[in-house]
Amino acid sequence: MDAYRHCAACESTVQAAERIFRVSIVMTEKKTQGLVAIAGAGLMGCGIACRFALAGFEVLVYDSDPSAPSRTKHHCHAVYQEMDQAGVITVEQARVAESMIRHVESPVEFGKAELVLEAIVESVAAKRALYAELEAVLPQTTILASNTSGFPPDLLSEQMQHRDRFLIAHFWNPPHLIPLVEVVPGSDTAPAVVERVMALLQAIHAEPVALKAAIAGFIGNRLQFAVLREALHIVRSGVATPAEVDAVMKASLGRRYSIVGPLESADLGGLKTLLSIAEHLMPQLAKDEDVLELMRERVDQGDVGVATGQGFYRWDQDRIEKIQALRRRQLAATD
Ligand SMILES: NC(=O)c1ccc[n+]([C@@H]2O[C@H](COP(=O)([O-])OP(=O)(O)OC[C@H]3O[C@@H](n4cnc5c(N)ncnc54)[C@H](O)[C@@H]3O)[C@@H](O)[C@H]2O)c1
Repeated sequence: MDAYRHCAACESTVQAAERIFRVSIVMTEKKTQGLVAIAGAGLMGCGIACRFALAGFEVLVYDSDPSAPSRTKHHCHAVYQEMDQAGVITVEQARVAESMIRHVESPVEFGKAELVLEAIVESVAAKRALYAELEAVLPQTTILASNTSGFPPDLLSEQMQHRDRFLIAHFWNPPHLIPLVEVVPGSDTAPAVVERVMALLQAIHAEPVALKAAIAGFIGNRLQFAVLREALHIVRSGVATPAEVDAVMKASLGRRYSIVGPLESADLGGLKTLLSIAEHLMPQLAKDEDVLELMRERVDQGDVGVATGQGFYRWDQDRIEKIQALRRRQLAATD
């Protein structure tokens, strides 16, 4: 398998993002940019650790699973090997980056980190329990960020003593390749904390976007799911197959959106024309939840995508490997 678990839901995003991702790693020797800590060394935590380490940060990692240190080592080694094979980093840069990541046995050892990024299981109770544990040992100045996929910041920080230090920093999968990080403050987050997190994310060559306030789905998932709703609606209506819908996206909007966003694109197309199309078309777009039936049917049958080899498509190892090879080539081509 790949360096990171295969994620069907993220695959199209991954491919699009890789076309535009520019790796600009300058680190050639062990030189510390700062110290950050990551709680939760799963798919996201490991990838985020790789990204910070590659940019020259020392990274402390804590995970409650005793097998996590060996998993992290394997994951980061595979990530760097893939980037080396794509020609975007050297073996020496990979070696230095790997040496910057260190597992610790308890979050007590996070005391000197400027930022603690939480990437544990998506559970409010588990996250809150960890924050209580962290607040008991961290200085008041340590910034605490969550990589939650969707919980609002105020819900997560409700029981914290110092809510001003908390925000969401939502990386996209795989975090070592996708530059976007959505930074979402809570009602009590200090503006200086948002500024500092933005600066740290820029230092790891991410492309952070700070929202003014929390909104369900943040920005990226709202856009992604609006597209998914319409794609499901089209397939369900029988007008096109999943492959045809995907072909349309990849051959048109996918390419365009890696260069200009939807609003830049509207300006380029001309607002007058776009408005007249929108007035006619928007009332006819999918609105209801019925479209989810198409996914529900598959899930109920156990066809959940790559994990079971069947979703909208059949996924065999050959197909997965071809996509991964394409990804490596595209990454090399954008260096
Ligand atoms: N998977 C994605 O595509 C994706 C994308 C963006 C954000 N996220 C979010 O990132 C977070 C992590 O997701 P993931 O996919 O990496 O999950 P994962 O299951 O791969 O990893 C979670 C890790 O956290 C560890 N853990 C659980 N409870 C812990 C605790 N109390 N203390 C320390 N470690 C603990 C687990 O042992 C595991 O290694 C979640 O909040 C998720 O919603 C996931």
